Amino acid sequence: MNNAEPLEIYLEEQDLGRGLREDVRVGLGATPKWLPPKWFYDARGSELFEQITELPEYYPTRAERAVLAARAPQIAEATGAKTLIELGSGSSEKTRLLLDAFTRRSGLGSFVPLDVSVSALRQSTEQIAADYPGLRVRGIVGDFTRHLDRLPAGGRRLVVFLGGTVGNLLPPERATFLAAMRAGLEAGDWLLVGTDLVKDPRVVVPAYDDAAGVTAEFNRNVLRVVNRELGADFDPEAFRHVALWDPENEWIEMRLRAERRMRVRVLDLVVDFAAGEELRTEISAKFRPTGIAAELDAAGFCAEHFWTDPEDLFGVTLARAV
Ligand code: SAH
Ligand code: AVI
Repeated sequence: MNNAEPLEIYLEEQDLGRGLREDVRVGLGATPKWLPPKWFYDARGSELFEQITELPEYYPTRAERAVLAARAPQIAEATGAKTLIELGSGSSEKTRLLLDAFTRRSGLGSFVPLDVSVSALRQSTEQIAADYPGLRVRGIVGDFTRHLDRLPAGGRRLVVFLGGTVGNLLPPERATFLAAMRAGLEAGDWLLVGTDLVKDPRVVVPAYDDAAGVTAEFNRNVLRVVNRELGADFDPEAFRHVALWDPENEWIEMRLRAERRMRVRVLDLVVDFAAGEELRTEISAKFRPTGIAAELDAAGFCAEHFWTDPEDLFGVTLARAV
């Protein structure tokens, strides 16, 4: 029997289309203009993100992998989880370190990755099911800002949210997300969350503005998605990639700067860009250990462990739902 079940679809094509239309109306009608980062991730965007994780400048993936490599057995032991749920799972490449540790310990029954990217999910579930034959693999196409009330039940659960993706939510969105996360869990379930840490901007900025221009392509991909899905006429090459460190908010802001005056048609909208006008496409918050613990505490979690890599670049917190 195949241990990869068919993908469970919480987000149909038409939901994605409706969501994108709403976000385009709101974000491109606002001043300053913005779009949410979840629209980067069509098949090409997911592939570009995987390329980013290999860049010399992009330290978060390597640093988080180092933490997981060192701590996976402890995480498996402490949580004793029967179900491992992964939000924004992408390729689930680092998650294999956890799956290996759980496999050695035995007892894990299901792996449930959830992502908006059908292409990433299809590849990862097939590969993981093949490599972990004893594991039930149930991929979910869903939005972690909307579908946390539908997490699978069944035994002690560990939800993992890796990569620092929680930092792509604005602070109020993050508080709502963590509260919804807690509401979807039982006391005694676990959350493992990866957060990039505040550090010298001379290290952070190049991670979001690499010499090879992969992040710039990733950033422009959102315009290609809007063109394809909504028939818009953005000229992606006429937008310059910008990565700015915001010292007050302690986050990186990715933007696309119009290199000249432009008029873009999308849906029934006419959207004008002045020369030099910027569209915000992502924030990527960097955290301090006390801040993470406080946010988890406010949402009804108790942070029991906080680990970093040897260079203190990236933090991983294991928290229990209380
Ligand atoms: N966890 C992986 C991938 C991080 S990239 C890692 O650590 O390397 C961020 C992932 O989150 C992408 O796969 C993207 O498709 C997914 N994602 C972004 N916004 C999402 C949302 N609102 N709901 C579900 N998945 C989302
Ligand atoms: C997915 N997320 C945590 C990445 C980040 O670092 O904020 C997305 C990314 N944006 C630019 N490079 C990578």
